[in-house]
Amino acid sequence: MGESTEYNPFGEEVLEDPFPFYEDLRNSCPVHVHSEFQHPLYTLTRYDDVAEMLINFNLWSSHYGQMPRYSVQGCLFSDPPEHTWYRRLIQKSFAPRHIAAMEKEISSLVKELIDVMEENETRDLHDALACPLPVLVIAKILGVPTEDINQFKEWSDAQLAASKSSNLEDSKGPRDAMNDYLLQQINDRREVLQNAGWGEHNVPDNEKLLGEVIPDDVISGILLAEVDSRKLSDSERLVMLNQLLVGGNETTTSLITNMFWRLLSQRDLYEKIVEDPSLIPVAIEESLRFDAPVLGLYRTNTEEISLHGVSIPERSKVMATYGAANRDPDVFESPNEFRLDRPQEQLRKHLSFGLGRHFCPGAQLSRMEAKLALEEVAQRFPDLRLVKSPKRIEPFLLWGRKELIVRWN
Ligand code: HEM
Repeated sequence: MGESTEYNPFGEEVLEDPFPFYEDLRNSCPVHVHSEFQHPLYTLTRYDDVAEMLINFNLWSSHYGQMPRYSVQGCLFSDPPEHTWYRRLIQKSFAPRHIAAMEKEISSLVKELIDVMEENETRDLHDALACPLPVLVIAKILGVPTEDINQFKEWSDAQLAASKSSNLEDSKGPRDAMNDYLLQQINDRREVLQNAGWGEHNVPDNEKLLGEVIPDDVISGILLAEVDSRKLSDSERLVMLNQLLVGGNETTTSLITNMFWRLLSQRDLYEKIVEDPSLIPVAIEESLRFDAPVLGLYRTNTEEISLHGVSIPERSKVMATYGAANRDPDVFESPNEFRLDRPQEQLRKHLSFGLGRHFCPGAQLSRMEAKLALEEVAQRFPDLRLVKSPKRIEPFLLWGRKELIVRWN
């Protein structure tokens, strides 16, 4: 057990529709090893194994990154206690109260995007709504001027596209360009502070400076934040900002496109939502479960272990496959059905935002964006229809649509 010739995480058929392959792995090869990479890549697919990986950070380390190759980025891609320190720095920006306070603003953004889509008769829901919305929202939270967001999106997509490559250099160009840009944003705020008579190390009361001297956004927060009397260095600040940006854009776009794709493919589901918008939160959780926008991420085991009779050598790259765990029949009834009547206790059991210490800090924000998008579209376009079956996006760890061509009249 362990080696299977049929499953290749980069294989064309797997990329096209990974779920039948996950089912085979869960049933007959719960610890899979793929040997045709620069080092063996392991894949775990059963719910209990994936959940255990996410919780037991002493054994399953994030130190070597979440991608198939080994890379040490640090900051949020680390283990406690280091990780706990960095997590505390972004806590305020993603606190439930802070996110809830953005609802009105995000709702206006959704309406504006849909107005433009209707006026121009744009038929691609991906380009008109699902793609720009998260980028505009994250730009607002970070404090990046909205006129620069297209450039931003390009950089973050290029980094994700390079994730499959075994060559670290492939993502370097876009990463450096984005870092130069972000450093400029940090330096602009630093200069404003200096002109107002404050150095970043002798600020009196952060809360007072934020919003008055420099904008109250994540970039300013990261410039001034201090936990246990320590501030971040500029290189740490850039890593943190990069992790937030790359983590939040394409994932939320995929949640929105996947959700509309499934609801419109089985159109009675969309009709139910139009008739009864109180089902929207259920549709969002079911979409997350059924079509995990991040199919899986890697951990590295700190010691050799034996699992289901397979030995995994110390320091192996092992994928926690959320997308497979989410369809484990031991946890989810009729897992291959998208159900708006899924029992409440199963709805939030999916692992699409991870679990434990690294649980996604953007979960509430992306749920809110998806809710506002579906509410508005269902109300404005009750006759919405899917025109053609959409293609998947390329990065092998991600699961989303490149386009979503629809009509509404
Ligand atoms: C549907 C949308 C999203 C999905 C499916 C998603 C998925 C995930 C997953 C699975 C993890 C756990 C990683 C791990 O266990 O190593 C994670 C962590 C993370 N996510 Fe999200 N995410 C989404 C939206 C967002 C948004 C909107 C943001 C930021 C604005 C964001 C920022 C992050 C960051 C910074 C981490 C790292 C947290 C840590 O390691 O402590 N995500 N996300």
